[in-house]
Amino acid sequence: SPSDPDLVARARAAKEALGDRVFVLGHHYQRDEVIEFADVTGDSFKLARDAAARPEAEYIVFCGVHFMAESADILTTDAQQVVLPDLAAGCSMADMATAEQVAECWDVLTEAGVAGTTVPVSYMNSSADIKAFTGRHGGTICTSSNAHRALEWAFEQGEKVLFLPDQHLGRNTAVRDMGMSLDDCVVYNPHKPGGGLTPQQLRDARMILWRGHCSVHGRFSLDSVAEVRERIPGVNVLVHPECKHEVVAAADHVGSTEYIIRALEEAPAGSKWAIGTELNLVRRLAARYASQDKEVVFLDRTVCFCSTMNRIDLPHLVWALESLAAGRVVNRIQVDPETERYARAALERMLALP
Ligand code: 13P
Ligand code: SF4
Repeated sequence: SPSDPDLVARARAAKEALGDRVFVLGHHYQRDEVIEFADVTGDSFKLARDAAARPEAEYIVFCGVHFMAESADILTTDAQQVVLPDLAAGCSMADMATAEQVAECWDVLTEAGVAGTTVPVSYMNSSADIKAFTGRHGGTICTSSNAHRALEWAFEQGEKVLFLPDQHLGRNTAVRDMGMSLDDCVVYNPHKPGGGLTPQQLRDARMILWRGHCSVHGRFSLDSVAEVRERIPGVNVLVHPECKHEVVAAADHVGSTEYIIRALEEAPAGSKWAIGTELNLVRRLAARYASQDKEVVFLDRTVCFCSTMNRIDLPHLVWALESLAAGRVVNRIQVDPETERYARAALERMLALP
């Protein structure tokens, strides 16, 4: 639906008034009405780098979710202020690993005698506290576009990886990219004593996967894949690695949002694609390629938007920009210095991966 013209004009005016003092970042899963005002768009890896590359911008308005704004605050200078237009834009996956739970897990690994040889690898989709835990224990952050390189690095440092908080990205990367078997992976359940694992299971495992998942990508199923193959003969199924292992195994291609965008760009005219990732992005891609005779459909019509990504809408963006233009910093995301120090170490390790 077209955006309210009054709000569009206000967003434009506030951005113009702020000029180079503001830099607006938009994650690929954001609404069209928000993406329209983004200075850059990207996946979480690209946006982290883009935020770090703009030291002259006084304000970074992050159109994405809370953990992304935290990462931007960690990677920008102390003088820069990061704003999240709606503080309720969290991420259910990031919330599945709290600092207390992860500290307890490390105690369990220590008691099993494996902490000394375990390297934590945390997905970008985690709180600053979890990133700091990772940095404190010599680990790295990864995103869906560099998880393979992050695991290669980690297995050069130690014998095991504790992968947080997305079990699916961890399992898919270990099995698809690292050639491990499903038996090399165990799932640590933070709601069970000892993670629901015996010390022997922890000693035998190579990948200790945190029991977290994405509530959007986790809903694509084998039935989604079977249904779309039946409906669209010859369709290429392309899914994000946050999908379950069985879905990834049944798909034709797997990759991060940037990978998905590139794959469609390079796809020949006449090709057909079913995409298993967030709906805002899939709809934009479908519209972009409709005129070029590439058919792009959503992998499962019963799955919906990421509700927290969608919290950032044009009214919230206008409010944030107009407040900044009036000299009022609203919804600032600020990580405390101690957490920031260790979280930055883990993020910088990721940025330095070959
Ligand atoms: P990427 O941006 O790394 O592809 O991650 C997808 C996601 O779920 C972000 O919330
Ligand atoms: Fe979190 Fe999934 Fe939404 Fe990304 S799509 S913000 S991982 S709930």
